[in-house]
Amino acid sequence: MIKRNISIALPVTGDDEWHAVQEPLMAGWLTQGPKVAEFEAAFAARHKAAYALATTSCTSALHLILAALDIGPGDEVIVPAFTWVATANVVIYCGAKPVFVDVDRTTFNLDPSCLEKKLTARTKAIIAVHLFGLCSDIDAIKKVAPGIPIIEDAACAAGARYQGRSAGILGEAAAFSFHPRKSITTGEGGMVTTNDAALAEMVNMLRNHGASVSEEQRHSGPRPYILPDFNLVGFNYRMTDLQGAVGLVQLNKLDRFIGERHQWADYYTRELASIKWLRTPVTPDGYEHGWQSFVCYIDENRAPMARNVIMQALHDRGISTRPGTHAVHMLGLYQQKYGLTPDDYPAARDCDRFSMAIPLHNRMSADDYAYVVAALHDLR
Ligand SMILES: Cc1ncc(COP(=O)(O)O)c(C=O)c1O
Repeated sequence: MIKRNISIALPVTGDDEWHAVQEPLMAGWLTQGPKVAEFEAAFAARHKAAYALATTSCTSALHLILAALDIGPGDEVIVPAFTWVATANVVIYCGAKPVFVDVDRTTFNLDPSCLEKKLTARTKAIIAVHLFGLCSDIDAIKKVAPGIPIIEDAACAAGARYQGRSAGILGEAAAFSFHPRKSITTGEGGMVTTNDAALAEMVNMLRNHGASVSEEQRHSGPRPYILPDFNLVGFNYRMTDLQGAVGLVQLNKLDRFIGERHQWADYYTRELASIKWLRTPVTPDGYEHGWQSFVCYIDENRAPMARNVIMQALHDRGISTRPGTHAVHMLGLYQQKYGLTPDDYPAARDCDRFSMAIPLHNRMSADDYAYVVAALHDLR
């Protein structure tokens, strides 16, 4: 078999995106403006949200939501222990404390049965991560923690659905990512969605230095020469109109991208079922996976070799793999700052050690998928 070179992820960008960026470039309005507004309107419609506000990344989107909810020193925010470090870092940005909760080894998402004992009078919000495109069990979380605001970390979940509802409107607010490893991309970029008008207004001001009026409103209004008032310490988290133009094009392709990924995820599930040491992703009833990535779980007791040796063997055959993500409580910063040890969150620890994403993206051919399947079957 000829060795291939298969990336873990590759964005699909080309002529359409290239043509789209020419419009703002020629018009000369380069930062948050008409293209961002169009992208926001389309994204809100696609996710059935009343408001969508574009940002520089999912990290800044999460930060804005926490800041808009007035989370600060003395407050605690629940974060699943197995997620990308940004989910917890944004809590520290606000001067609050991330309180970890263990995850479910099957779904990789926050385990609602571990939540209750972590709630205190200081708990101000729960960040529910929809990891790899599978929504968190929001109804179960709400049952355990009634009345506590839920923020969706929907970095990986554009287009995903839960019990008939879109990711993005399952809690108080949600944050999406358009990093190139996500299903749709603007290079870097993020989006806040919410149905709460006051929260949307606060996010809108905070992303633009706390200005009471956006630059676009000011420039197109009757007195563009009057600078806005500033009553808040805000940030510069504005998306550029170049990204907005690319985002619009990408959003129109989202359903196709997810449909193709779904088809190949089914193929992997079928073709890998006989490998008893490899568990493919599980989609519980009532969930529609967004398929940001295809993350397997390795049973090292039955596997022919350790997870990292498997990843090396696949790497040697030109197949990129990655751990699903990391256990944040095991990262140096978090161990030192909060005195945590790996065994504090055993399921997150195991997911960190035994998860493995295999390539799933919209630039793989049928032969690429067959090559990955054959390479996994060859391991012994
Ligand atoms: C679960 C999760 N949250 C947050 C982020 C941060 O997204 P961004 O890179 O857009 O800031 C990521 C990125 O990988 C992620 O996977």
